[in-house]
Amino acid sequence: MNESMKKELYQSVQYIAQNYLSAYDNVSEQRAVTIADEDTIKKIRNIGFPKNGRPLKNVIDEMVKEVYTNQAIMQHPRFLAFVPSPATPISWLADVLTYSYNPHAGSWLQSSSASCIEQEVIKWLCQQAGYPNSAGGLFVSGGSMSNLTALITARNVKLSENEYAKGVAYLSRQTHSCVARDLRIMGLLTEQIKNIPSDDKYCMDISHLEQEIIKDTKAGKKPFVVVATAGTTNTGSIDSLNEIADLCEKYNMWMHVDGAYGGSVLVSPKYKHLLDGISRADSITWDAHKWLFQTYGCSMVLMKNGRYLINCFSTHPEYLKDAVIENDQTNYWDWGPELTRPARSLKLWFTIQTLGTEKLSQMVEHGIQLAEWAENEIKKYQEWEIITPAQLAIVNFRYSSTDLDEHLLDMINARISQKMIDDGFACVLTTKLKGKTVLRICAIHPDATEDDMRNTVRLLVDYAKQVKSEYKL
Ligand SMILES: Cc1ncc(COP(=O)(O)O)c(C=O)c1O
Repeated sequence: MNESMKKELYQSVQYIAQNYLSAYDNVSEQRAVTIADEDTIKKIRNIGFPKNGRPLKNVIDEMVKEVYTNQAIMQHPRFLAFVPSPATPISWLADVLTYSYNPHAGSWLQSSSASCIEQEVIKWLCQQAGYPNSAGGLFVSGGSMSNLTALITARNVKLSENEYAKGVAYLSRQTHSCVARDLRIMGLLTEQIKNIPSDDKYCMDISHLEQEIIKDTKAGKKPFVVVATAGTTNTGSIDSLNEIADLCEKYNMWMHVDGAYGGSVLVSPKYKHLLDGISRADSITWDAHKWLFQTYGCSMVLMKNGRYLINCFSTHPEYLKDAVIENDQTNYWDWGPELTRPARSLKLWFTIQTLGTEKLSQMVEHGIQLAEWAENEIKKYQEWEIITPAQLAIVNFRYSSTDLDEHLLDMINARISQKMIDDGFACVLTTKLKGKTVLRICAIHPDATEDDMRNTVRLLVDYAKQVKSEYKL
């Protein structure tokens, strides 16, 4: 590399860091969501692929202006939709560091120290879940992939190949949609995926679950896995983990817990009791790019018996033989579906090293407080109804006047959310609960304040008035 290129690269790194940090500094004043307008999209499409390269600075500026500005800002304290990913700047810095060295985290030969860190982080996470020393796991790209990895292993352990067509998996109506998709990717047919109804609290109905297992067994099918959720996406509800564990033991089934979202309360001494029973699960999904404040894509799949992952995923082709320098347990390409993989564990390690576990648990606990503040504010307004109270940092509510019919109320609530997106002050979207369109806040940003919650709710209340007058009500 010549000197001028080196200088340009060096200046670019500084420039990007400055841009990122100043944007981070005044994030609260920015719009929570910006969608590219037609002109911008046209401009991007017209950029094309130049025969000769362009100066770095031009391309960086263009990308900042046309690409990164037009997005939902996940670091925004009032981005309260989906499950947000309020990534800490520490995680960003760890990405910069890791991608500077670009370790291949597939084998011990290629990344011995990074693999060692992955083992240590997994061990620590397993301890938080109350798992024994036999536990193991690995990092993958997201909750969908963690669930897939666990479910493939569950089938491998519980069914012989000639039983695959008879295998049945049990989910609840509140299970994240990626789980059913994962099962379809695995080749299960619709009738092999059972959606168990939820009770009033949006938890899986356990007696219904048992009846279905008995019925299917009598019909010659092979129930092999129950997917419980610790922190459902809609309401933050937590399935009855101990009762599901009892059933799984009784019927020799695999218990998987999707804790992609709620798993993070395990780092809080104050709230970890909410997930009592999780240590009885055979496997757990836990996303660090949600409530552990990491950049994408950073998720962990934990397994009570780590050997099951190796039994399921290891392959030994001749061209990888020389990379097996210690024993097969140290090569992460034998633990999951990826061969070439980035060293995702390093940013979580770096975050914990620099913040400490106490700070991390305070950051998680803050989310629970934020949703409670939002709920308290909503309760101050007549004609506003709490649909599900604050639970694991999620609260559902709606504008609800007894004078108006349900269809109209659905339209009003959807319109309130749209107005908030247009305004950009916050992002609050809707979901459907018991057939009603409701507004949903999921608040896990460690820097969001009580005022952020209050002012967001107040604005929603104002919008309700405006929408009513738009509709001449
Ligand atoms: C409970 C739950 N499981 C799984 C997922 C999917 O995770 P990912 O988007 O990382 O694939 C989500 C995403 O919000 C979730 O809330």
